[in-house]
Amino acid sequence: MVQRAFWYFPEVFELKVQTPPEWADYALRDFNTFVLDHAACERKASAVGMSFVVRYPDRTEMIEPMIQFAREELEHFHQVYRLIEARGLKLGPDEPDAYVNILMQAVRTGREERFLDRLLVSCVIEARGAERLILVAEKIEDPEIQRFYHRLARAEGHHKNFFLRIAEQYFSMEVIRTRLEELLELEKEAILSVPYRHALH
Ligand SMILES: [Fe+2]
Ligand SMILES: [Fe+2]
Repeated sequence: MVQRAFWYFPEVFELKVQTPPEWADYALRDFNTFVLDHAACERKASAVGMSFVVRYPDRTEMIEPMIQFAREELEHFHQVYRLIEARGLKLGPDEPDAYVNILMQAVRTGREERFLDRLLVSCVIEARGAERLILVAEKIEDPEIQRFYHRLARAEGHHKNFFLRIAEQYFSMEVIRTRLEELLELEKEAILSVPYRHALH
């Protein structure tokens, strides 16, 4: 991987609203349904990484890290798939994800705006994923599956910083902060507006 001297974000942002721990009780009430949705989230995250590579081939600084990101998410998908297989389950068709759809609708048109928004939307989705996977890991009783979820939660926590570091290579801190603040407000509305499911969002 290309090593770059990323200027580290001085303060790591926080989501505007915390998920209450009771959410995890509901989500895990049907763990089989939860794990199938979770697999789809990992697969889509990998596809998002590769879509940056496909859409912005001229932004050479981010190609290598994006491929790494896509591979890591694909590896997560593979690991969750093995869990699915071990439980005798089968992958199903994609379910609509109202939370993600609300955020994607905020992505602006225009090459630069679209690029920034897609990076920052990915960033807040990763942040929420990390927050919720920690809650899930804390409630899981099987020690092996619990360790697995703790590992995944840590990886997702790094991903929120990953997208910020990419954005920082192409946009000023002021532009990033302003738009991130708007998207964090929208994320709060989105996560509060969707009913609990046996799913990550
Ligand atoms: Fe992941
Ligand atoms: Fe991730």
